Amino acid sequence: MTKREIGQSGLFVNPIGLGCMGLSEFYGPATEEGEAIALLQGAIEDGVNHFDTAELYGMGANEKLLGKAFEGRRDKVIIATKFGPVRDQDTGAFIGIDGSEKNMRRAVEASLANLKTDYIDLYYMHRMDQRRPIEDTVGFMAKLVEEGKVRALGLSEASAETLTRANAVHPIAALQSEYSIFSRDIEDGPLPAVKTIGASLVAYSPLGRGMLTGRYERENKPKPGDYRTVAQPRFAAGAYEANLALVEDVQAVAEIVGATAAQIALAWVLGRGEHVISIPGTTKRDNLLANLGAATVSLDAGLQARLDQLADAVQGQRYPDEQMAGINV
Ligand code: ATR
Repeated sequence: MTKREIGQSGLFVNPIGLGCMGLSEFYGPATEEGEAIALLQGAIEDGVNHFDTAELYGMGANEKLLGKAFEGRRDKVIIATKFGPVRDQDTGAFIGIDGSEKNMRRAVEASLANLKTDYIDLYYMHRMDQRRPIEDTVGFMAKLVEEGKVRALGLSEASAETLTRANAVHPIAALQSEYSIFSRDIEDGPLPAVKTIGASLVAYSPLGRGMLTGRYERENKPKPGDYRTVAQPRFAAGAYEANLALVEDVQAVAEIVGATAAQIALAWVLGRGEHVISIPGTTKRDNLLANLGAATVSLDAGLQARLDQLADAVQGQRYPDEQMAGINV
């Protein structure tokens, strides 16, 4: 698929990248290391060049995985990672969001070491520190660009106002937010702001955390121990069944087009404009290859309109209340 530039960063990526989180945490047990490394290295062969991780994912374990997989292949990959959320090192519990220079410097050095590299292509603030003006944190992040440790800056789940203020301090190449057929709330502010400042929207969970692929059924839910079963309102009893009924519409469109539901979900996201790229997550090479097949899927206006209606009917918010308070701020 024709590459798209991340904002005006000079970084050109396959618009279908790889979200790496699920390899280490949240979606059930971590993938066995050899298998995960094979997936990451295979993804490069398959044409993926944008890999998204964060300090948060597995408390450094996910970055370490990328570090091992990409040793000797650094020039073939664009690595995005993130800082901000702080966890208790013993229990893994979330302590808060820290956008101080001290925490950023601690985090960036840890990320560079984990990733076995001397530069990060795209460095995000993962969630906003609401005790501190965004100008301060982006000012600290800009120093990392000057020092050559980071190539471009991004914010994740920031509001239009925060994004615009940040961009006045240093160009922001990307806003990373959840965006999918089921999650269109950013169209109310953040997404237009992305376009205005010449950035890119990096759409995470473009497959609705797997739900939009049609892989789940009433009796075939994510397994106990998977965070979706406890901390994702859309997977909670009641909402889950209602949302699965909406997925049937995505599957119907897929049948008309001759594609899979996952491909339809990705084609919908990428069809929103050149300023949108995606990072579907997968732990399996077959699913990765199938997802890359979305590059050749296009939706006509009628089908697009049919899919456009679904978001309003989705049951459940994107996160529990506590985490929703850190979104669009
Ligand atoms: P996130 O960005 O949070 O990773 P996502 O990209 O919306 O979320 O969805 C990720 C989920 O979709 C994962 O559970 C992944 O499971 P696998 O690791 O088993 O692949 C699932 N998924 C991704 N691509 C898929 C595909 N083509 N078919 C079925 N499930 C898929």
